[in-house]
Amino acid sequence: MTESCVLRMESISKSFPGVLALDKVQFELLKGEVHVLLGENGAGKSTLMKILSGAYVKDEGEITIDDNLIEIESPAHAQKLGIGIIYQEFNLNPYLSVAENIFLGREPTILPGIIDWKKIYRDAQDILDSLCVEIDAKQIVETLGVAMQQMVEVAKALSLNARILIMDEPTASLSNKEIEALFKTIKKLQDDGVAIIYISHRLEEIFRIGNRVTVLRDGKYVDTKPVSELTKDEMVKMMVNRDLDDHIPKIKAEIGDVVMEVENVSVKDRLQDISFKLRKGEILGIAGLMGAGRTRLAKTLFGAEKISKGKILVDGVEIHMNSPRDSINAGIGLVTEDRKNEGLILDLSVKQNVCLPNMNKFINSGLINSRIENQAVDNYIDKLNIKTPTRNQLAIYLSGGNQQKVVLSKWLCSDAKIFIFDEPTRGIDVGAKTEIYQLMNQLVAKGVAIIMISSEMPEILGMSDRILIMRNGRIAGELSDTDASQEKIMNHALGEAYEAVL
Ligand SMILES: Nc1ncnc2c1ncn2[C@@H]1O[C@H](COP(=O)(O)OP(=O)(O)OP(=O)(O)O)[C@@H](O)[C@H]1O
Ligand SMILES: [Mg+2]
Repeated sequence: MTESCVLRMESISKSFPGVLALDKVQFELLKGEVHVLLGENGAGKSTLMKILSGAYVKDEGEITIDDNLIEIESPAHAQKLGIGIIYQEFNLNPYLSVAENIFLGREPTILPGIIDWKKIYRDAQDILDSLCVEIDAKQIVETLGVAMQQMVEVAKALSLNARILIMDEPTASLSNKEIEALFKTIKKLQDDGVAIIYISHRLEEIFRIGNRVTVLRDGKYVDTKPVSELTKDEMVKMMVNRDLDDHIPKIKAEIGDVVMEVENVSVKDRLQDISFKLRKGEILGIAGLMGAGRTRLAKTLFGAEKISKGKILVDGVEIHMNSPRDSINAGIGLVTEDRKNEGLILDLSVKQNVCLPNMNKFINSGLINSRIENQAVDNYIDKLNIKTPTRNQLAIYLSGGNQQKVVLSKWLCSDAKIFIFDEPTRGIDVGAKTEIYQLMNQLVAKGVAIIMISSEMPEILGMSDRILIMRNGRIAGELSDTDASQEKIMNHALGEAYEAVL
């Protein structure tokens, strides 16, 4: 790694109404390094990167690129300077093809005004292939799942030949295989001298690919250190400024009667013969690889997929679910993995997002009791440490992780008796994860039943009373909490369990 400095940000400040998002922050980037930017939800990471990518204008401070003092004026200007960014939120046009998205606004032409479609598709396909993803460049983005859309974002950034590449939580919705492909790409880019700024809440990743780490806390610069000089605990301490007990605080609840029965449920071509029982007070973990059918199962139990065979009973009564409304009425709540699209209304306030779907709770003799409403919202803002100036802040202005906490609050505020959590702590910082586990403990203590889909092994092993493992749309195995281990789960998920037995 050559030690030349490609970027220096000094004394950068940025405020929004009621929020000092960045307070005299510094950041330095060397050629060919992977520099990790670390901090809790709302610490200011994305804001700092948006200033660098031209999406926000800084209030004060200096930016030097290759020793030249630069005012970054717009995203187009940043691109010209060789700065590429993969945003935390997707920025793709769902109705265009993958290739069109990758080259949007800078389509190569054969003659002036005549787009070279052949080249667009060929170049896009080359980049996709180099990422080892099975995406056809001609496919319409809307038809892709979250993980594949993320890979298109990556491909788009790579196509810019950036010298400085910003990745804001690129792996949040990727499978292990895709993460490995991304890491390989990162290594290759690094060898070519590209400097990478990498944001992630998955601390293990930092040890695999990071060279140095800079920590922000509450909009302030904390420190910059080589990754090799830090332990995970030290990183966490720099982020949260206190020692954090990262053991998972499971409190076993009393397991009661069966509340949900799933009998031989199939969904055409997707799910085969799924059967299980869920009991009150139980957390049923669902493990499996990405694409094994876990999210499909969650949607099916929520009435968002058409069942071709089998039935679902709640409290012994068969539920005919033609839409999510039917399942909400049956007391089922689903916190989706794609919270940005399915869970949150960006133009509404934090309070409205939490309270509107649960209005019946706050109406007293025909009138809205706003005091109780405010209490309820403030309770979640406090418990989940949602970083917002007031309960009336629009959701769009919250940081990625804090938006997710709002979606969780909305559901926690409901009276559901069965919760389905699809990747409940994705994008949530280490400190707030523990708070979410505590809330799950409180829910099951009240007799609520939880189905928890998760790719995080410690979470599955730490919080589940029982674990189902899915593979190819089927339930491939079941483990009790006392019997479960990472290895056994992986065996079932990969399908080698049977060979091991033979
Ligand atoms: N456009 C905006 N208007 C108002 N406030 C904003 C805006 N953008 C960011 N903020 C606020 O600035 C602070 C920093 O947010 P930022 O998105 O940079 O956090 P982050 O470190 O990226 O967090 P996360 O890990 O959750 O993504 C937060 O309090 C956020 O609510
Ligand atoms: Mg962010």
